[in-house]
Amino acid sequence: MASSTVIIQAFLVLFLAYVGNSQKNNDSFIFHGFKGDSLCMDGSSIITSNGLLQLTNQTGYLVGHGFYPSPIINMLTQNYSSNTSTVSSFSTSFVFGIIPSDIKKGGGHGFAFAISPASKLSGSSASHFLGLFNDASNGNPMNHVFAVEFDTVGAAGGFGDHDSNHVGIDVNTVNSSYQQPAPINMEEGRPIKVWIEYDGVRKFINVTLSDQLDEPRPSTPLISEELDLSKTLIDPIYVGFSASTGKLASSHYILGWSFRLNGTAQEIESSLLPSLPTIESPGSSKKHAAFSLIPATFLVVALVALFYMYRMRKKRQEEILEDWELDCPHRFRYKDLHIATKGFNASEVIGIGGFGTVYKGVLPKTGEQIAVKRILHGSRQGVREFVAEIESLGKLRHKNLVHLLGWCKRNEDLLLVYDFIPNGSLDLFLLIRKDNFVLNWEKRFKIVRGIASALLYLHQDWEQVVVHRDIKASNILLDVDMNGRLGDFGLARLYDHGENPRTTRVVGTLGYIAPELARTGKATVRTDVFAYGTLLLVVACGKRPVDPVVGHSTLLDWVTECYNADRVMDVVDPKLNSSYVIEEMELVLKLGLLCSHWNPESRPSMRQVMRFLDGDDPLPSDGIVSDAYLHGQNFQSIFGDVELKNVVITSHSQSSSIAPVSTNSLEGGR
Ligand SMILES: *[C@@H]1O[C@H](CO)[C@@H](O)[C@H](O)[C@H]1NC(C)=O
Ligand SMILES: *[C@@H]1O[C@H](CO)[C@@H](O)[C@H](O)[C@H]1NC(C)=O
Ligand SMILES: *[C@@H]1O[C@H](CO)[C@@H](O)[C@H](O)[C@H]1NC(C)=O
Ligand SMILES: *[C@@H]1O[C@H](CO)[C@@H](O)[C@H](O)[C@H]1NC(C)=O
Ligand SMILES: *[C@@H]1O[C@H](CO)[C@@H](O)[C@H](O)[C@H]1NC(C)=O
Ligand SMILES: *[C@@H]1O[C@H](CO)[C@@H](O)[C@H](O)[C@H]1NC(C)=O
Ligand SMILES: *[C@@H]1O[C@H](CO)[C@@H](O)[C@H](O)[C@H]1NC(C)=O
Repeated sequence: MASSTVIIQAFLVLFLAYVGNSQKNNDSFIFHGFKGDSLCMDGSSIITSNGLLQLTNQTGYLVGHGFYPSPIINMLTQNYSSNTSTVSSFSTSFVFGIIPSDIKKGGGHGFAFAISPASKLSGSSASHFLGLFNDASNGNPMNHVFAVEFDTVGAAGGFGDHDSNHVGIDVNTVNSSYQQPAPINMEEGRPIKVWIEYDGVRKFINVTLSDQLDEPRPSTPLISEELDLSKTLIDPIYVGFSASTGKLASSHYILGWSFRLNGTAQEIESSLLPSLPTIESPGSSKKHAAFSLIPATFLVVALVALFYMYRMRKKRQEEILEDWELDCPHRFRYKDLHIATKGFNASEVIGIGGFGTVYKGVLPKTGEQIAVKRILHGSRQGVREFVAEIESLGKLRHKNLVHLLGWCKRNEDLLLVYDFIPNGSLDLFLLIRKDNFVLNWEKRFKIVRGIASALLYLHQDWEQVVVHRDIKASNILLDVDMNGRLGDFGLARLYDHGENPRTTRVVGTLGYIAPELARTGKATVRTDVFAYGTLLLVVACGKRPVDPVVGHSTLLDWVTECYNADRVMDVVDPKLNSSYVIEEMELVLKLGLLCSHWNPESRPSMRQVMRFLDGDDPLPSDGIVSDAYLHGQNFQSIFGDVELKNVVITSHSQSSSIAPVSTNSLEGGR
C-alpha cells in the first residue's frame, strides 16, 4: 500500500465535501452537554466552559434562549385541501438545574421548553413571561407557540399560577391551560430529568419529572392531558428553551437534551452530563470545622484515591493510536461508537454473521443512525493494509450500496461503521419470514436490477476494480423504499491479509461459490457474476441455493434440470401466486443460469447483464446451460474434492445443513 497516503489525502478532500453535503437526520438528536455544539442562542444564554447551556445567570430581568439550530422538518403535515394540519408525535427529554440567587428565599422566574415558528423569540419579556411572550403578545393565537413551563414563582407573579414550584402547559400564553405543583423542589440546584411526550394521533401530552437520573422514567406522568397541537403550530418548527429572571433571579441550566420525532427520545446518560456548579451554603459554621477535621483527612485521602482510579480508568479508555492511524479521515472515535451502541449492549444487536456482530447505534453528536460491525479478528497483522483499503472503499458511492462511513480499531477489535438500513436483509423477506408477507415480483425485479447496477459500478465503473466476493441474499439490505443495497463489499479481503499463503482459504457462502473459486481460491469479477447468478435464482424461486428441494443438492441443479426438460417455469416461487411478468421471470431465470455457467468465460460481464435486464440486448438462445450439465455432470462433481474445512462460510444462513437458520435470521450483512 505505498500509495495509501495519496489515496488518503485525495480522500480527505472528498470526505470533507461529503460531510458538507450529507443530509443530517434532523428528526432526532441528543446532546450530553453542549460543548462545541452550535445552538441558536440569544439574550443572556451562554455555553459554560464545561458544556452547560446557561440560559440566565443570577442577574435580574434577563431573558435567554437556546434553540436547536435547524427546524424540525416533517413535524407538521399540511392538508391544503381541507386547510388542516397534523402534528406528528414527538418525544423529548432533558436534564435541567436551577440555582437560585438566594437558596432560602428562592429565585425566579423559571424556564420553559418551547416549540415556536422561529428560533428567536424577539421582543419577549423577562419575569413571568419567561422570555416567551410580552404584555401585548401574551394570549395572541398568532404566536403559534407551545411551551411547557417550569415556573418557580407562584401566585404573587399573577397569571393564575397557584404554586411557586409548578409545571404548566402553555399555549400561546403563560396563563397555563393546565398546571401541577412539581413533586420535586426545582430550585435546589440539583439536576432534574424531564420527559415530554406528545401523541399526535390521540392528541395527548404527558410530562414526567424525576430527580433519579439513573432510574427509568416514572410510570405515572405529572401531567397527562388532552392537547391538540395541530391548532397551534405552524411551519417552520423550532424547538428549544427559554428562561427569564425578574426581581427574583436564578441561574437556569440545561445539562443534556434529546429529541425524536415520531418515536421515543434516546435516554440521556447521566454519566456523560457536565456537572452543575455547586451552591455554597452560606450557613456552614465554624463550630463544625473542628469536628470535621478528622473525617476531612479521610475525605482527602479518599478523594485522592478516587482521582487516581479515575485517571487509571480514563487511561484504559483512551485510545492508543499508532502513527498511521492519525491521518485517516474515516476513523471514528471509539468513545462515540461505545456511546452510540450503549456500550455494545446485547439489546442493540441486529445481526450476527461470520464476520462478527452488528449493532445498531445512534451517534451521540448528530443523532445519525448507524450500524456498527464489530469484527472478530484475532490478529493485528494486516489490519493496517486493510484499513488503507477501507479508506478507499469509503469513497464508493452508489445508491444500491450500503455506504461504509468509517472504521475504528481498538486492541483486537475492528469496528466498521455503516449506514443504518432499516428493513433488514433480502433473505429475511424471501426465505426466513414465516408470516404471509410476500415480496412481490415488481420489487424483486427492482432489487436484482439495483444490485446489478451496484456490481457494475464496483466491477467496471469505479476507478479500481472491486471484487465483492460475498454476494448473497443476506448481504442485500432493503431500505425504506425497498431498494436493494449491497453490503459488506471488500470485506472478505480481511481474510487475505496476514494469511499464511500456503493455505488458500475460500471465502464465500456455499451455493454462491463458483467452481473455479473453490478450486483455486482466486476471486475475480467472474466469480462475483456466478454468485449474482445464484442470487437471481434465489430471488425467482424463493429457495435457498443449497438443499432447495428434496432430491437436488443445489438450486442450480434443480433449475438446470427443469430448464433442460423445458419446464423452467416450474421453479418459480409459488408464493408469487402466478402474479409476475412472464417475460421478466423467464429472463431472470435464464440469466441466472447463464451467470452461473460452469465456464467463467461463458458468463456475461455485469455490463452485459445490465443490458439484458434492461432489454437492450436479447439473451443468447443457446449456451445458457453449462456443457458440464448437458454431459450429465452435476454440481457435486464439479465441486469435487473441495475440502470443506478450507471454505470459510461467512454466514450460515444459506446453509441450513450446517447451522440452524434461526440464529442468523437477523443477519444484517453489515
Ligand atoms: C439539518 O440540520 C443541518 C444542521 O444541523 C442543516 O445544515 C441542514 O440543512 C438540515 N437539513 C434539513 C433538511 O433541514
Ligand atoms: C449575567 O448575564 C448578563 C447578561 O448576559 C451579563 O451582562 C452579566 O455580566 C452576567 N453576570 C455575571 C455575574 O456573570
Ligand atoms: C382555507 O383558508 C383560506 C385562507 O386562509 C380560505 O380562503 C379558504 O376558503 C380555506 N379553505 C377551506 C376549505 O376552508
Ligand atoms: C385532506 O382533507 C380532505 C378533506 O377533508 C380529505 O378528504 C383528505 O383525505 C385529506 N388528505 C389527507 C392526506 O389526509
Ligand atoms: C392571564 O392572567 C392575567 C392575570 O390573571 C390576566 O390579567 C390576563 O388577562 C390573562 N391573559 C390571558 C391571555 O388569559
Ligand atoms: C401518557 O400517560 C398515560 C398514562 O397516564 C399513558 O396511558 C399514555 O400512553 C401516555 N402517552 C404517551 C404519549 O406517552
Ligand atoms: C410515524 O410512525 C408511524 C408508525 O411508526 C408511521 O406510520 C407514520 O407514517 C410516521 N409518521 C411520520 C410523520 O414519520
